[in-house]
Order: sequence, then C-alpha cells, then structure tokens
Amino acid sequence: MCGIVGYVGTQQASPILVEGLTRLEHRGYDSAGLAVLGSTGVKVAKRAGRVRDLADGLPKRFAGKVGIGHTRWATHGPANDVNAHPHTDAKGLVAIVHNGIIDNAAALRQRLADEGADLVSDTDSEVLAHLVGRSGADTLEGKVSDALSAVEGTYGLAVLHADFPDRLVVARNGSPLLVGVGDREMYVASDLAAIVRHTTTVAHLDDGEIATLTATGFTTYRLDLSRTARDATTLDIDPAAYEAGDHESFMHKEMLEQPAAAVRVLRGRLDERFGTAHLGGLDMDARETRAIRRVKILGCGSAYYVGQMGASLVEELARIPADAEAASEFRYRNPIIEPDTLYVAVSQSGETIDTLLAVQEIRRKGGRVIGLVNVVGSAIARECDGGIYLHAGPEVAVASTKALTNMFLGFALLALQLGRVRDLSIADGRRLIAGLQRLPEQIEEVLAQEEALAALAGRLAEAESLFFVGRVRGFPVAREGAQKFKEISYRHAEAYQTSELKHGPLALISPDVPTVAIVPEDELTDRNVGALHEIAARRGPLVVVTHEGVDLGDVEAERVVVPRNERELDPILMTIPLQLLAYHAALRLGHDIDKPRNLAKSVTVE
Ligand code: F6R
Repeated sequence: MCGIVGYVGTQQASPILVEGLTRLEHRGYDSAGLAVLGSTGVKVAKRAGRVRDLADGLPKRFAGKVGIGHTRWATHGPANDVNAHPHTDAKGLVAIVHNGIIDNAAALRQRLADEGADLVSDTDSEVLAHLVGRSGADTLEGKVSDALSAVEGTYGLAVLHADFPDRLVVARNGSPLLVGVGDREMYVASDLAAIVRHTTTVAHLDDGEIATLTATGFTTYRLDLSRTARDATTLDIDPAAYEAGDHESFMHKEMLEQPAAAVRVLRGRLDERFGTAHLGGLDMDARETRAIRRVKILGCGSAYYVGQMGASLVEELARIPADAEAASEFRYRNPIIEPDTLYVAVSQSGETIDTLLAVQEIRRKGGRVIGLVNVVGSAIARECDGGIYLHAGPEVAVASTKALTNMFLGFALLALQLGRVRDLSIADGRRLIAGLQRLPEQIEEVLAQEEALAALAGRLAEAESLFFVGRVRGFPVAREGAQKFKEISYRHAEAYQTSELKHGPLALISPDVPTVAIVPEDELTDRNVGALHEIAARRGPLVVVTHEGVDLGDVEAERVVVPRNERELDPILMTIPLQLLAYHAALRLGHDIDKPRNLAKSVTVE
C-alpha cells in the first residue's frame, strides 16, 4: 500500500520518478507527488488523483538530480492535495515520503504543535518531516536517526534535505524498501517494479536499517548509526514481466499466464517414482512431518479462500485435521498455539501486515510456521521457518489470479508430501501427480472459453446483486468467485453454502438476482441439483459451473463446462471461469480493472 521511489544521480530526477510512480500505482492510487532538490532548493508538486494528473500538471521548472516520489492509499485523512506526499518541514528544507503507520503520531503532533510547529495535513507522516527538520544533528543520517528514535510504528521512508544536496537518506521498519544500484546513479523503491527498467542490481534493507544513497554508492546503518554490511545482488529478472504488453490490463495478462505459472510451481517438485512431492524449502524430515497433528492455514482475502481449498486438500490427502482462518482475526483472539500443529501462512505479496503479524504471534509462542509466498525475500517469507515459493512471477493487478492458482497448487504439493508420509498410498499419490500434470493444459482449455464467458458476464453485469454458491470443496470456490466479482465489478456478490440457501437467503432469489452455482460431478451432485431446482422454482437466473454430462434435470441454466480431473483438484479448474466472469463484467461496466476503487495491492496497514 502506497509506493515510494527515489533517485540520486546524473540525470533529471522527475521523469524517472514519474515513470517509477506509474509502475507503482497499483499499490495506491488516490494521490501522488514528487519532491526534487535543485539549485534553488526543495521543490514539491503533489495532488489528489492519478500519477498522470500529477505528470500533466508538473511545473515547467522542476529540475533536480535528487528526488523522491510517492503514490498514496489514504489512511490518515482524505485523499486531497495537502495530504498527498511528499511532506515538508516548517522551513521547506526537508521533504519526506513515507509508507506505513506512525502509531504515536497524535502525541507527536501535539508535542510539535506545543513547540510551535505548524502542521498542515491530517497525515501521520508529516510529523516525520518536522522531526527531521527540528533535529540538531549535523548530518542527515543523524537527523533521520533522531526522528526515528521518537516514532513508534512502521515505515518505509525516504528523505531529502536542501543542506545535504548530494544524498537521500532512507529507512525501513515493517514496510519494504530496496536500494537499486545504477551507473553513477542510485535508486530507492518500495517495490522492484518501480526501478526494474533501470537496474536489477538491488539490496533489500532489513527492518531497523537506514541507508545513505549518493550518486556513487550506498552505505547502510542501524538506527544508532553503527554500520551494517549489505551488498547488492543482481536478480535474474526479465523487466518485460512487469509490462502489460499487448493486453488491455495486467489482470488479463496474468489470467492468461496461469498455465505457464502452474508449470513453474510444479517444476522439479513431483516425484512419480514414490508418488510424492519434494519441497526442499519445508526443511522437515519424515519424522517431524509424521508428528504433525493439525494444520492451520492463515491468509487474508482471496489468500484465505484458497487457504480453505488448501485445508480440504490436506484433510482429504493427508487425513490431518486442517482449517483456514482469516489472518486478520487470528491474533486478536489470543490463539492457542500447539506444538504439533503446522501453521501455514499464505500470501502473494509476502507483505500483508495481518498475515505477517499472525506469523510473528505464532513464532513468539513457539509455533512452527511455513510460508506459501510468491514474492521472494518478502517479509513473510523471511519470517517463516521454511516454505514453498509460488513462482507465479510478478503480479501487478490488484485482483489476484495467477498467484492464487499457484497457491492452490502449492497446497496440493504440501498435501501430497504430508499424505505420503502418512496413509496416502503410492497409487493415490501417482494419481494426484498425473492430475497435477494435466492441469496446466486444462487451465488453458478453460481460458479458451473466454468469448462465451464474456457474453455471459455481460448479462450478469446487469444485476445489482448476485449469489455464488457451492458445497464443501465448492464453497471456497464460490467465496473466491464472489470476491473477484465484487472487487472489480462493484456489484454486490454474496457467497453461500448451497445447503444453507433454504435457511434464509432463498428469500432474496428472484428474476433480478442471478446465482452462479458450483456443481462438480462428485458425491454431492444430486443434492446440488436439488438446490438448483429450488432456485429455478423462484425464477432465479442460474449459471452453473460444472462438468460435461452432469444431469441438471429440467433446470434451465447457462452451463460453464470445465474439464474433469481428480476430484480433489476440481476447485482450481472451477475458479478460473469465475475470474473471467468478474473480469468481463467489470470491463462491460467500464471500470478500471487493475486499480479497483478503494483498494490497493499489498495491504500493509492493519
Ligand atoms: C483479491 C486479493 C486480496 C488478497 C489479499 C491478501 O483478489 O488480491 O484479497 O488476496 O489482500 O494479499 P496477499 O496474498 O498479498 O497476502
């Protein structure tokens, strides 16, 4: 949430910063701003709205070879020009951009006001500019260290100061920040996406670290300004992975990338000979694995729903009791942490603060946590005792698609490995492996139905309100389908267990309220079809995601047919058409697909 980019070097900073902000915009898009340090001191341009509004309105004279930029997702105070970052101190010598939350901002504001400071915004971040400006230290590093010693909370911070025109000072605590190394130029960013066109040689800062960037290099420190040793490494990343290319949106590109992403997460991890999976990153031997009595999965939003699919996989394949819980709720109920429970944190970004705090709570109480994480080296990945990287590649669209598919596959691999040290037979293990190997092609087959799904989505988009229903394995699919639909189409979409409809929500079914029903061919098909009759009898329009040949009796419904695989793997094949339905409904309604209103990629605030 919120994005930071900074530059110091031999070129004009503002075009580089504007380009960086454009690439960071998915992280927050209600306001944006820049500060540069030129011959006449610090200049700031900021405004509510998108980065393109900022770029269009930049003053003609905005020269400077040192600069910082920010794209905001409002937490303290509405999205307006004043609350946009950068913030400056009273003398206009200091400019800062900040991600995160300053918990003691109210007390600091009061203290600064008592000392005569005039704070102009509603933000917590502005206090940082004033604290840096008021510090008596004689270096910029010292001023930043002074300021940070007064604050409680999380920050990714970049600071420039007119009295120190050759440098940026940056700091990290709980909000990601990386330094990029160029040729006689240095960058800072909250996400590699912002600078990947310029450099892939980067150093990730640790929590509690400060860095000085000048055109010729960077130096890192602890908060007390004792030096730390940090080298930059060159990442093997194709900058094109961060481009939408010919697609009209990143979400479209990322949906179509799912077959290739699925191949990547499975590669080298399937062992056909023993009918199992090899997950080296788990760092658990067979004895430790056998000792697991329960699996508890924690994630937020769509990651939580895929966690529910994962829990079913673990119970069905490994016969270990498993459940998923919203990480955002977990630590507030003083959870009992059991030594023989395997905790699994699942996150695309690896930054979601609720999931990170849940991991920290478990580890503090001595529990073992593994991560299913997409972003390598992210905070959650680093905090866990081991894990499975998802190899989905960079995901830019706010609505997660390919990362979620790979989460499901990560759970299938985990369940297979857990199952094979327990009661899952080698034959069943091989059956699952064969199913997993067929999946990428079958995902491709579902994606090939895009045109038909687009037509269907156009009709669904007309409804103000929809139900998504499923049972057992199908229920998390319905939850994820409803989530995607409401997230980008802004239609009210409610997920329900099909079996629960008659206990209340059936009252809402009418010709104006369509239902999308998940009806795989499995042990519950007949019961599901029974519920479809009840919906049809109330003249509720129906879309049924099902398998070829499933007998729906005389129920009138639009069918979406997905290929058959092993039953345990049905949920992921049934999720893919729901992505396309949501996508095309949103497109039909003319919404900004990659940047849905009020949301942002990576929720780094509680
Ligand atoms: C929905 C979506 C969100 C995320 C959630 C967790 O499409 O993307 O619900 O799934 O915010 O994010 P991560 O996976 O980064 O922890």
